[in-house]
Amino acid sequence: MLRLRRYRYYSLLAAVVVFLLYRVARNSGQWEAASASFSHAAPPFQPKSAPPTNIDAHSDDDLPRQILRNTGDENNPTLVSNLDTTHQDSADDNQLHPIPPPDPAPVKEATVLAYDHDEAIREKTVPIMNAPGMSASHGFQGSDNPFAKSTTTGTHWEKVPENYPVPESDIIPLPIGKPRKIPTIQYAFEKESSENRETREARQQKVKAEMERSWAGYWTYARGHDELSPVTGKFRDPFCGWAATLVDSLDTLWIMGMEDEFEEALSEVEKIDFTIAKRTEIPVFETTIRYLGGLLAAYDVSLGKKGGYDILLQKARELAEILMGAFDTPNRMPILYYRYTPQSVSQPKRASTRVSIAELGSLAMEFTRLAQLTQENKYYDAVARITDALYEWQNRGTSIPGIFPELVDASGCNRTALNELKAAQSAASPEINSRRSIGVTGNDAIEPEYDAKPEPGKGENDQVKSPMLRRSGESASLDWKSSSDIDGSTLPACIAQGLTAGGWGSEQYSMGGSQDSTYEYFPKQWLLLGGLEPKYKELHLKVSEAVKKWLLYKPMLPDERDALFSAKVQTRGHPETDITTQYEVTHLTCFIGGMFGMAGKIFQIPADVEIGRKLTEGCVWAYESTPTGIMPEVGSVLSCADAKDCHWNTTRYEEGLDPFLASRDQMIEDYEARKAKAKLAEEEEKEANKLTQDTTSSTSQTEHPENGHPGVEQSTGPGANHEIRKRAPVSEVGDLERDEAGSYPATDDEIKSSHARAMDFEDSDPAPGFERVAAGQAPIQADEDRAERDPRRPLTHEEFVAKKIKDENLPKGFLSVDSSSYILRPEAIESVWYMYRITGEKKWQEKGWKMFEAIVRYTTTELGNSAIDNVLSTDTEQLDQMESFWTAETLKYFYLLYSEPNVISLDHWVLNTEAHPFKRPKT
Ligand SMILES: *[C@@H]1O[C@H](CO)[C@@H](O)[C@H](O)[C@H]1NC(C)=O
Ligand SMILES: *[C@@H]1O[C@H](CO)[C@@H](O)[C@H](O)[C@H]1NC(C)=O
Repeated sequence: MLRLRRYRYYSLLAAVVVFLLYRVARNSGQWEAASASFSHAAPPFQPKSAPPTNIDAHSDDDLPRQILRNTGDENNPTLVSNLDTTHQDSADDNQLHPIPPPDPAPVKEATVLAYDHDEAIREKTVPIMNAPGMSASHGFQGSDNPFAKSTTTGTHWEKVPENYPVPESDIIPLPIGKPRKIPTIQYAFEKESSENRETREARQQKVKAEMERSWAGYWTYARGHDELSPVTGKFRDPFCGWAATLVDSLDTLWIMGMEDEFEEALSEVEKIDFTIAKRTEIPVFETTIRYLGGLLAAYDVSLGKKGGYDILLQKARELAEILMGAFDTPNRMPILYYRYTPQSVSQPKRASTRVSIAELGSLAMEFTRLAQLTQENKYYDAVARITDALYEWQNRGTSIPGIFPELVDASGCNRTALNELKAAQSAASPEINSRRSIGVTGNDAIEPEYDAKPEPGKGENDQVKSPMLRRSGESASLDWKSSSDIDGSTLPACIAQGLTAGGWGSEQYSMGGSQDSTYEYFPKQWLLLGGLEPKYKELHLKVSEAVKKWLLYKPMLPDERDALFSAKVQTRGHPETDITTQYEVTHLTCFIGGMFGMAGKIFQIPADVEIGRKLTEGCVWAYESTPTGIMPEVGSVLSCADAKDCHWNTTRYEEGLDPFLASRDQMIEDYEARKAKAKLAEEEEKEANKLTQDTTSSTSQTEHPENGHPGVEQSTGPGANHEIRKRAPVSEVGDLERDEAGSYPATDDEIKSSHARAMDFEDSDPAPGFERVAAGQAPIQADEDRAERDPRRPLTHEEFVAKKIKDENLPKGFLSVDSSSYILRPEAIESVWYMYRITGEKKWQEKGWKMFEAIVRYTTTELGNSAIDNVLSTDTEQLDQMESFWTAETLKYFYLLYSEPNVISLDHWVLNTEAHPFKRPKT
């Protein structure tokens, strides 16, 4: 699994390289003509700052780096973009030796191979736009040609003119006015006893000690890189290699009083060069919440302008300048995996037809805060348009009114309408259409991320007139523009629409991964804007109604505690009749307790604070229920039909565990009947044999009584519960982003795969001399009984359930644990912290402390803390990964739980989804 993922990643990179070459080859004639009008004074490639060289470690993603670092220059991390210049005659040591353009046919094959995991490519969507090159004569020519520019200047990012700039007069400004008075969020804490203080401070010091060790490990072994590998002391660079952990941890260092480390870290911040990346595309959401959020919060907590750490704001602006390019689409919806080489940046493109709602909706706070600090409305404009689009969509209506499906079509083009039009047109003029669709299909296949590209030529001449999402939901009617008459056809490039569900058919709704933070940001944006933008309140109130109506459920738990969880539902558009519900329990969803609690306070809905409390209690239960005291990544439980009268019922629980309950008795009956019959036959045969002494008679029939009887599990052997494990995916969380991203060397994935490997391992016999270590490896008692009794008889319901609980190490109450890893996630302690600050109840500090001790017990390494692969076993394995959210979020929330309540008071600060505190406006 792991290997496979990696392989995809490499082949994807290879494909990108090859594809760029292919493009160079295809367009070189055009480019050379265009670039003739430019001087060829290309500055030699010079990274602004060399990565630290004093680090005696090597990355564990050598292979991708090998591919990237094909110039042999260690200090030159982004090399794919160097290909942009391969056709130039200006010799530069850093440039690749020109490679003859490969034959287009194999290129296509390679590309398809690399992408074949991506549904986007399999989906035979009808093309919307022309492929660039289809109408080459109308392409990039003349002195404004951005391609030409990119071929004559450096190899890293640089600003190019936007294709779809927002006219100055249309820029949406930050709301102005006096911030509203907002009800207080925090409990009015009394003065604490000295005894309480002692306990609290002792705990706080223990949290800080974890931070000090993790930070030192990172600083020594991974400084300047994204993540420390906390077991082996290597490093990883999954977030472009801009020192993600370092930037993500700055405000934590400050808050914990580690000011020397903070100052020291700033010298590294200064060296970060956002114009060079170790990936060819920027994951816009992750980059925004971790880097941009981290820089802005570090600036805010270190007293902003007064503090004098201007470098933080300066770096935030540098990064934002680059990210702004992602919004350069006709409807200003962002490209969320943004290829930012000059060549790519300058090409007109649209947002994808399949983006995750979380990634689209969770950019708001960071860009808003940047706009506030710089007084530059363009940053606010970028995200206000997304909010407007969501607001318009919520009012227009989704299948589950109030909330949004996980997959969103952000392209702004109505494929249905276009198909209708095409059908009509092709009836009238078949020739033109067949010609177009060939070109477009080819383009789609090569670059599935951009489901379509506006036709070349559009960018330069029609900038201002180009379709653009306007304020207040006019978009749906306004933004269609006939695509000119590029080759005499009147086929429109795009029939405009607002946001709609992406993909086809089934839509998923939940508060979990890929959706979560969009909802989290509505009330938080309202706070950040001082209550001056009412849309955020409206958005939140509708979300909260929908969540209560469709998603919240009361789980049946062994200790019958008053808890809630939020489910995932699926509908094909008619939820009243076709909805299906997955009673999931996922770590990522655990933020929601804090969200309900906080929003309940600011919008004065006490019932929502209560809901927040119960949701938090659910996650605390999930921690307490496992042998390690740590919640698994993904699992499921049973829901109570009647939330008011919900009692533990062992019969019901065990029935829920048995997928073959209905047929089980019948299976045994059938088996016994066939066995009796076989026995009878055998005896008859024996009789006959006695008579004839004929030994050739076959008895094979009787040896496999269950053959040809589907649905009967093998009662012995490793295959026994294979069926059950396959029923549910190991984990679904994060799959979407990863697969969409394609080239994302995701830590989640690796954890999932290692989990999957562990599962595979369980299914095979251990090597001699090895014992099976993971959950439920020991043969259970029933096996031995059965061996004496009858090894082939199907299991009874009771036997099956006992075996399943044992084999899967299921904590009582869980129906399944689909991913048993813990990757140092913060969401549960986040909600516990909110609950403590909101209610003032000390019990949350106690619950939090149990969580902390459990996490430290199993994740601590010499150099930091590591993700673990199985919270269901006290013998769990450390996975050698420490995501930046460990120091950015998890440890920060633990620390703040044991701080005095005025440290990062929720009445003065609002935290982004990466736990970065932004200063709220003063009323
Ligand atoms: C897309 O076009 C179809 C057919 O014209 C129409 O029924 C549908 O409402 C449009 N969708 C949106 C979101 O505008
Ligand atoms: C427990 O569940 C079983 C099976 O669903 C049901 O038949 C029984 O009535 C339940 N018992 C109680 C006390 O509700």
